[in-house]
Amino acid sequence: MNKESDALIFDKDKDTSCGHISVMAQEVLEFLRLAKGMTVVDCTLGLGGHSLMMSEVIESTGRLIAIDQDEQAILRARERLKGFSGRLDIVKNNFREIVSVLSDLGVKEVDAVLFDLGVSSLQLDDPERGFSFRHDGPLDMRMDTREPLSAMDVVNTFSEEELARVLWQYGEERFSRRIARNIVKARAAAAIQTTADLVKVIMRSLPYKHSRDGVHPATRSFQGIRIAVNRELESVELAIDLAFSRLKKGGRMCVIAFHSLEDRIVKEKFRSLTRLGEAALLTKKPVRPSPEEEAVNPRSRSARLRSIERLI
Ligand SMILES: C[S@@+](CC[C@H](N)C(=O)[O-])C[C@H]1O[C@@H](n2cnc3c(N)ncnc32)[C@H](O)[C@@H]1O
Repeated sequence: MNKESDALIFDKDKDTSCGHISVMAQEVLEFLRLAKGMTVVDCTLGLGGHSLMMSEVIESTGRLIAIDQDEQAILRARERLKGFSGRLDIVKNNFREIVSVLSDLGVKEVDAVLFDLGVSSLQLDDPERGFSFRHDGPLDMRMDTREPLSAMDVVNTFSEEELARVLWQYGEERFSRRIARNIVKARAAAAIQTTADLVKVIMRSLPYKHSRDGVHPATRSFQGIRIAVNRELESVELAIDLAFSRLKKGGRMCVIAFHSLEDRIVKEKFRSLTRLGEAALLTKKPVRPSPEEEAVNPRSRSARLRSIERLI
C-alpha cells in the first residue's frame, strides 16, 4: 500500500454517509495509485464515499469527475464532497456516456477510473425505490427515475419466455420457468404492483421457503429484474472499453463487481486488453474484501475487485 492510502484509514466518526460504507476503499486507493494533482473519474459516485477518499489524496490541485445516473445519490454526494477544494464536476449520466461526459468537460485523458458497480444502500434501503424484497414498496428499481422502463413494466408486460430468460440469465435463478409462469398467472388476475406482491409470487413458486446459504429466496429474481430494468450488463460491457480509451499511459482502472455476471464481463474485457498488449493486469485473481471488512459490512461479501494499468 502506498503512503497516501496509509494515511486514509476509514474514520467512522467522520462518516456522513447515512450508513453506506464504501467497499474495499483501501484496496481501491492502493490499486489506483493516486497522487496529488491527478485527474480521476468516479463512474459510480453513489453516496460519494470512494470519491471523498480519492479527493483527499488528489488534493486541491487534483480534478475529480464523478458520474451517477441517480439524482438522489448526486444530491447526497454533492453535500459530502463540498469540502473538496480541487476541481469537481458531478455529472448525472449513465457511465456508458463517459466519452461525451469527458469531452464536454474538455478532458482528454485521465489518471484513474473507478467503477463500483451495482446499487447503493440509499437505493436498497428506500422502500419507495422498490429495489429490495425486504421492504414493501412500488415495483420500480430504476436507478435513473427518468428512464421509461420500471420493474412494474417488466413484471407486468414481458412475455412468460422473456421473464424466464431475465430470471435465468440475469438472476441465475434455477426455478426461473416456474416463477415466470406464476407471475403471468398472478398478473392475469391483478397487476403485480409492489415488491411484497412479487415476493409472494416468487415464494409460491419455489420448492423451499428458506435457503440453506442464508440468502433470501427472492434475491436472484430481484437481481435479474433489476439488471433488466437498468440494462446493467450492456452498460458495463460498453463502458469499460470507453473508459480505458480515456486513460493515460500508466493510468489505472479499478472495477468492483457484485455478482458473477458482471465480474465475468470485467474479467474478459481486462483479459482481452492484456492480450492485445495494451494493458497490464494488476489482479491475476479478483481481490476479495478482508474478513474484517466482511464482518463490519456484510454487503461487501460478494464484492470482487479487478484492476489494470494502461501500457501504451
Ligand atoms: C455501489 S454504488 C456506489 C457507491 C460509492 N462508490 C460510494 O462509495 O458511496 C453504485 C452507484 O452507481 C450508480 N450506477 C450504477 N450503474 C450506473 C450506470 N450505468 N451509470 C451511472 N451510474 C450508475 C448507482 O446509481 C449507484 O449510485
